[in-house]
Amino acid sequence: MRTPKHIGIIMDGNGRWAKRRGLPRTAGHRAGTNATREIVRACGELNISYLTTYVFSAENWGRPSLEVSMLMDLLVEMTRRELENLNKNNVRLNAIGDMSKLPPKTRKELLNGIENTKNNTGLNLILAISYGGRSEIVNAAKKFASDVLKDPNALENLNEKSFSSYLYTKNIPDPDLIIRTGGDCRISNFLLWQSAYSEIYITETLWPDFDKNCLKEAIEDYNKRDRRFGKVKDD
Ligand code: IPE
Ligand code: IPE
Ligand code: MG
Repeated sequence: MRTPKHIGIIMDGNGRWAKRRGLPRTAGHRAGTNATREIVRACGELNISYLTTYVFSAENWGRPSLEVSMLMDLLVEMTRRELENLNKNNVRLNAIGDMSKLPPKTRKELLNGIENTKNNTGLNLILAISYGGRSEIVNAAKKFASDVLKDPNALENLNEKSFSSYLYTKNIPDPDLIIRTGGDCRISNFLLWQSAYSEIYITETLWPDFDKNCLKEAIEDYNKRDRRFGKVKDD
């Protein structure tokens, strides 16, 4: 079986999961952390090299402040509690997004997790937090423009590959497979540049119900895809 090198997951449906049980949305987010733990472990077992999880979008800052602060606290709790597990499973933690917007304690805990797992050589777990694809591209354009001011040759030398190095995901290969739980058929500003040729898999399963078997089903589906990258197959 062909395993994708990089899987991206839009972990959606926590709120609906809670609503169906008559619980507050925040209970859904808490339940979602169990799915995250299981999927991180499963990706390690399946020899996936990179897993990018969409934890909190740039647009999610517009949610009610109680939900936002609960999510920020949950991130602190999870990073702290899971650190030992990440190290045991040889997982290297990283994050993409606008970290300057995070509350100091969340940023601190995250940076601590990144620092304390940096020598691990197994799965690369990338948390997309305060992440928006469009703002990532705009930031890259700004950084590039400032380089052109320093050296006008940079303009002449710009190409798709060199532009990629201005993105948060420099040194990370493009995702082969993007999974979205919760059934909505949209990308919601996730990895816009990087997903140009990703295979998209959408499942009705809500994130807290997504488990290793669901992941295997997504990978099996990916295996049936004919990735042409705009070319034609030799007959
Ligand atoms: C995804 O679940 C988690 C975040 C966006 C933080 P939602 O909270 O969006 O759940 P639904 O889509 O409302 O069910
Ligand atoms: C996408 O889910 C963001 C995350 C899963 C973190 P949303 O619930 O924010 O997306 P929309 O609003 O349905 O597009
Ligand atoms: Mg949602």
